[in-house]
Amino acid sequence: MADKLILSMRGINKSYPLGDGSVQVLFDVDFDVRQKEFVSILGPSGSGKSTLMNIIGCLDTATSGSYVLNGKDIGSLKDRQLAKVRNRDIGFVFQQFQLLNRMSALDNVVLPLIYARVPSRERRARATVLLNKVGLGDKMMNKPKQLSGGQQQRVAIARAMVTDPAIILADEPTGALDQKTGAQIMELFEQLNAEGKTIIMITHDPKIARRAKRIVHILDGRLYTQEEYDAIYDEDGVRWEDKPTIRERRRRRLENV
Ligand SMILES: Nc1ncnc2c1ncn2[C@@H]1O[C@H](COP(=O)(O)OP(=O)(O)O)[C@@H](O)[C@H]1O
Ligand SMILES: [Mg+2]
Repeated sequence: MADKLILSMRGINKSYPLGDGSVQVLFDVDFDVRQKEFVSILGPSGSGKSTLMNIIGCLDTATSGSYVLNGKDIGSLKDRQLAKVRNRDIGFVFQQFQLLNRMSALDNVVLPLIYARVPSRERRARATVLLNKVGLGDKMMNKPKQLSGGQQQRVAIARAMVTDPAIILADEPTGALDQKTGAQIMELFEQLNAEGKTIIMITHDPKIARRAKRIVHILDGRLYTQEEYDAIYDEDGVRWEDKPTIRERRRRRLENV
């Protein structure tokens, strides 16, 4: 049986006010994610990744279109309800980790459980389980500055996981890490996905994107499946229709242009 549809967007448009008018950034986006999927959204700078991530993560709302997340019609929710969905259903992982520097790794991971009103005696136990899972069982009392970048991102991933959200939403999670450390973080995501976590990862890096099980492309605010993308662009990102034909190339060579 197919896994349950956990996220479904239809005809999502997003415009920002600009001067007297507005500028449209997302165009007619349809996007479905099933439980236990690991999807990456791949696109160059300025293509609309952060705008889409903000809508997926309920940090912002679409101008039009429908968005159903974990059975809830997001478009009809008020700000307070949106905040609730954000806390319950989504675990965020950011490029710059966004840990609280004055708190230990353990306290950073405990924090979402306080917001979620988990009883205090349970919090430490749950946070400890997650920190062990990400391989930081021996660094729980370290503050972020006493951890490497890769270790800080592991703390951030433990924090994102600790409330057991429906989706992990990661925005350029390896963007601030060197290649080797980034690859280790991707291995951790692969492991968490193999254990059943649904993961959506946003990146501009094709190498990183390929670690996911499915890639969708975003270009100028429009989403393309891999098949749609391959029909339009070659592997270097050049439009097939913009590539000169062999005959045209020969003509140019002969005419020296
Ligand atoms: N608040 C805003 N107001 C106006 N334009 C914006 C705003 N945020 C983003 N944009 C524009 O939307 C486009 C997509 O931006 P963004 O979603 O940040 O892309 P990415 O994350 O892929 O780099 C860019 O052209 C950007 O200038
Ligand atoms: Mg961005």
